[in-house]
Amino acid sequence: METKKSARKYDTWEEGSDLSEQIKEATKDNHVRAENTELMLSYQRGQITLPQYKLLLCSLHEIYKVLEEELDKNCSHPAVAPIYFPQELARLEYLESDLEHFFGPDWSGKVIVPAATHRYTQRLREIGQKNPVLLVAHAYTRYLGDLSGGQVLGKITQKSLRLTGKEGLSFFSFPGVTSANRFKQLYRSRMNAIELTEAERAAVLEEAVQAFEFNTQVFDDLQKLLCVATEPSKINPATFPFPPLMPFTVGLCVTLATIGTGMYLL
Ligand code: HEM
Repeated sequence: METKKSARKYDTWEEGSDLSEQIKEATKDNHVRAENTELMLSYQRGQITLPQYKLLLCSLHEIYKVLEEELDKNCSHPAVAPIYFPQELARLEYLESDLEHFFGPDWSGKVIVPAATHRYTQRLREIGQKNPVLLVAHAYTRYLGDLSGGQVLGKITQKSLRLTGKEGLSFFSFPGVTSANRFKQLYRSRMNAIELTEAERAAVLEEAVQAFEFNTQVFDDLQKLLCVATEPSKINPATFPFPPLMPFTVGLCVTLATIGTGMYLL
């Protein structure tokens, strides 16, 4: 019901406008919301911590695994083919190498993701199977984001975590893209060339809004998981008389209990 209602909002969009412009406009407020999550604000302040970053990598791994599997499966779909750039954009391999760097060779047994990540990937699977046109919205949200603000975040990560060299940072590197700006232009022109009915266009715009919201919810869940560890000043020593590592452990347990069914060990 809700989807139908909000999709109608985009029915009145000026016919003939480019999808790339419409999608940017439609998600403007959601972009601001994503940027202003606690996790992204810590990032922008240069305060990202290793536990935060490791947890973020786990969720990104799960998201890209499913996104890229669904893009691969649907690569000859007329809406997906024009924006299918596995050589230039695929992130999964890079994320796996970063996870190995931070968690060690047995990283795959250590990947944990919150409920919001699971909901996001369930949606990706659903549209990959039932409505691949909508993958355009998700590919746009992640890949164009990675090629935009994501590039700055890479530099901040390196500085904040005091990483020397490029190890652990391959998620941010796009060796197949020589100019991010030129590539984004190409990507936008490919998006604009996709033939969509007005109903499909409205659904893609609505899905892009949802894609941003999924990301925001993932960041919020990750922040909840780590809130005690990253904000020790919030702990009142009088009511929380534990040695330094205990607040993290207890906080994590409390949060896990709160998020409850939401935690998945992959
Ligand atoms: C600290 C957080 C973030 C910062 C500082 C940031 C910053 C930026 C900047 C500077 C641009 C370029 C705008 C332009 O070229 O006009 C951009 C574009 C974009 N960002 Fe972000 N961003 C952040 C988070 C996110 C997140 C979480 C997502 C989604 C998951 C996202 C998705 C996008 C997309 C899709 C674009 C391309 C817009 C377009 O040209 O159509 N960003 N971002």
